[in-house]
Amino acid sequence: MEISIIGAGYVGLVTASCLAELGNNVICVDNDLKKVKKLKNQIIPIYEPGLEELVKKNIKRKRLHFSSDIKEAVDKTEVIFIAVGTPRNEDGDADLTGIEKVATQIAKNLRTYRLIVEKSTVPVETGEWVKRTININAPYQIDFDVASNPEFLREGSAIHDFMHPDRIVIGVESERAKNILLKIYKPIKAPILVTDIKSAELIKHASNSFLATKISFINAIANICERIGADVVKVAEGIGLDKRIGKDFLKAGAGYGGSCLPKDLDAFIKIAEKLNYNFELLKIVKKINEEQKKNIIKKLSESLWILKGKTIGILGLTFKPNTDDIRNAVSLDIISELIKEGVYIKAYDPQGMPKVRNIFKDLKLSLNPYEVAKDSDCLLIMTEWNEFKKLDFHRIKKLMKQPLIFDARNMFEPEIIKKHGFRYIGIGR
Ligand code: UGA
Repeated sequence: MEISIIGAGYVGLVTASCLAELGNNVICVDNDLKKVKKLKNQIIPIYEPGLEELVKKNIKRKRLHFSSDIKEAVDKTEVIFIAVGTPRNEDGDADLTGIEKVATQIAKNLRTYRLIVEKSTVPVETGEWVKRTININAPYQIDFDVASNPEFLREGSAIHDFMHPDRIVIGVESERAKNILLKIYKPIKAPILVTDIKSAELIKHASNSFLATKISFINAIANICERIGADVVKVAEGIGLDKRIGKDFLKAGAGYGGSCLPKDLDAFIKIAEKLNYNFELLKIVKKINEEQKKNIIKKLSESLWILKGKTIGILGLTFKPNTDDIRNAVSLDIISELIKEGVYIKAYDPQGMPKVRNIFKDLKLSLNPYEVAKDSDCLLIMTEWNEFKKLDFHRIKKLMKQPLIFDARNMFEPEIIKKHGFRYIGIGR
């Protein structure tokens, strides 16, 4: 099929390259001319495992093209996915300026039937607004459909998630739109749920909010475990073995970050507010997440006594492993707080350092974990990168000023770390 994707960010780029891989001709459009030029030259602006190969392969096969011209996309492709950013504005609402702009541009260039699909995470009723915007701006009355097809990709495993999803959700208003989307997703083996547009839009916000709820729930349990001397990892295992609960997203840690869960939770709270519903549950989920960050600072000062003048080595800066994304990473809040406390910080991350450098100009970034460990009073693990599993703790102990490991992602077995002669602090254990 002839498909275009508007927006070459994480979602747009992954969707475009995966749809090309499935055999479609795809135009990926972005208004950032520099980005488009780079992509045409096969330079990928983000780190996402497998993405570079997929983009290169499909450019070579002439199935994937990049452009800065929405008109070209509307002229040449029957299906147009909108995957532009919907950032959080000051009061927590999703900023839909980008969506409106794209819908207007699509409308102005509309000459024949087109299916316009919302891929970005948007508040319920955005589909209605997109339809109205197109009707107002189209040069004359043209048949078109709007659909919602939310993405459930996780950064770090986005290609796998696209090709092997748990489900595909399609929100449509016409048989024609439904059949087009079913045809696009035919090669993928997954249950397909067809709904109305509003339900599909809600499914996305409800899913991310539920995932955030699971994380805050287990972090609350971790706090109880710490007070009583139980192990949250075991408790999570025991809870998760119940199929009705499930074992995923029950990892206690430093709290959730990233560009999705925090933003979507805020947006959903706002949506509910506008609908006259006080979504107190989600407000508490958010509060627990904020407190989890404060707990880290509290535990650091309990273990090191005076923080001022101490050296803390941080391993892991990205909001999760296998990405270079540091948006809303918990590490950033921790660094700001520790700087305020007068702590000297050294840090290392396999992918996130260039982006962190743009925020903390004076932060000492190291070449490897051992350089971070050297002369540190505490080694604080903020992201559970696989690379850290292979650390030589014998060597690390010799390098550190005092042997203290704070594993804020529970990635190590406490007993093993303790056997190496360290004091071990985890979360809820
Ligand atoms: C999330 C959802 O998982 C995706 O399904 C969704 O498509 C995406 O948002 C989106 O809306 O675009 P993502 O933000 O990439 O994906 O990352 P997650 O894997 O959800 O992790 C989010 C945060 O939660 C990370 O900071 C992670 O460390 C933390 N987390 C996750 C925990 O603290 N405990 C867990 O058990 C799981």
